[in-house]
Amino acid sequence: MNALELISLSKSFGAQKALDNICLTVPTGSRTVIVGPSGSGKTTLLRMIAGFEFPDAGSLTLNGQVLVDNSHAVPAYQRQIGYVPQDGALFPHMTVAANIGFGLALTGAARNERIAQLMDSVALDANMAGRWPHELSGGQQQRVALARALAQQPRLMLLDEPFSALDTGLRSAMRKMVARLLEGAGVTTILVTHDQGEALSFADQLAVMRAGRLVQSGHPMDLYRYPDDEQTAHFLGEAVVMPARIESGVAHCDLGPVPVNSNGFIGDAQIMLRPEQLQVSDAVIGTQGCHAVVTERDFAGNTCTLTVELCSATQQRSGRSLLVRSSGMHAPSAGSAVQLSVLGAAHVLDMP
Ligand SMILES: Nc1ncnc2c1ncn2[C@@H]1O[C@H](COP(=O)(O)OP(=O)(O)O)[C@@H](O)[C@H]1O
Ligand SMILES: [Mg+2]
Repeated sequence: MNALELISLSKSFGAQKALDNICLTVPTGSRTVIVGPSGSGKTTLLRMIAGFEFPDAGSLTLNGQVLVDNSHAVPAYQRQIGYVPQDGALFPHMTVAANIGFGLALTGAARNERIAQLMDSVALDANMAGRWPHELSGGQQQRVALARALAQQPRLMLLDEPFSALDTGLRSAMRKMVARLLEGAGVTTILVTHDQGEALSFADQLAVMRAGRLVQSGHPMDLYRYPDDEQTAHFLGEAVVMPARIESGVAHCDLGPVPVNSNGFIGDAQIMLRPEQLQVSDAVIGTQGCHAVVTERDFAGNTCTLTVELCSATQQRSGRSLLVRSSGMHAPSAGSAVQLSVLGAAHVLDMP
């Protein structure tokens, strides 16, 4: 069953088109991630789902109930949607406990117990209950905002860049904790981020936005491997893109013949490979295959990204450089002559 249906939503602020004909289906219980560069319309879309912005055109339904269309709109407080805005937006004059308990109908011991439960669920220490928002770190503030939204037992949870105030290690731990928490509570979730790594790891459905348009959606692994266009390819990770002549399921390109997933396409096109699909080995001068020279080595601990320049078997340089991922332990040094081989198939971009 689909929890949320966005149907042809558009919204302009003056001449600025913030959302352009957005259509998206969010299945019940899923974790959908909306990813896109700054200014692409992500926050506007979340605010519209929450009920703080209204579309110029289009409609949106939750569990079959129309929340907004061209004739009426359900007010935000009646939507049962949890919303954690980009900055957390805690009430500064209320303690942690008062913030979390803000919308709770409970009183006395039952209220305190519920607040303690909620704090525990977002891994906030019980002794923080009496603190003020300004006495918390950015990450702690975001967890209070999340607990406050969970207190409402929402049908749908909207999270706008919820981990942006955290550093890398804590960020991934928090991401896993929040994913488990929401899954355990069976809450359908939409998370917005501009971080592609976060998007790929959190999502079971990924939607890519650019300049107010939703350009592609699907399973994260499919989007990473089969992006529709070059911009999406680069947005979701490092990509090697090059021209090729394609026929009979083979791309003839500077790497030699490479298999493609082209569904019988014949003609000239751009192909894409992820750097981890290219493997380097020591060059054997004079042999067949794709020769290259390492021009740069970027060591990052467990992996190493090499920039290599393709060349002929007689070491004539071509001027075409590519990225290759290598294990950090066995990466050849700059200046080494190598041979490249391709793992799996190349993907054809901009297929008609
Ligand atoms: N209240 C507003 N008034 C005018 N322009 C706005 C308003 N809210 C957003 N915008 C514009 O709409 C576009 C999308 O903004 P936003 O949804 O905040 O993007 P994102 O969250 O992806 O960074 C931007 O160009 C932004 O300047
Ligand atoms: Mg935003």
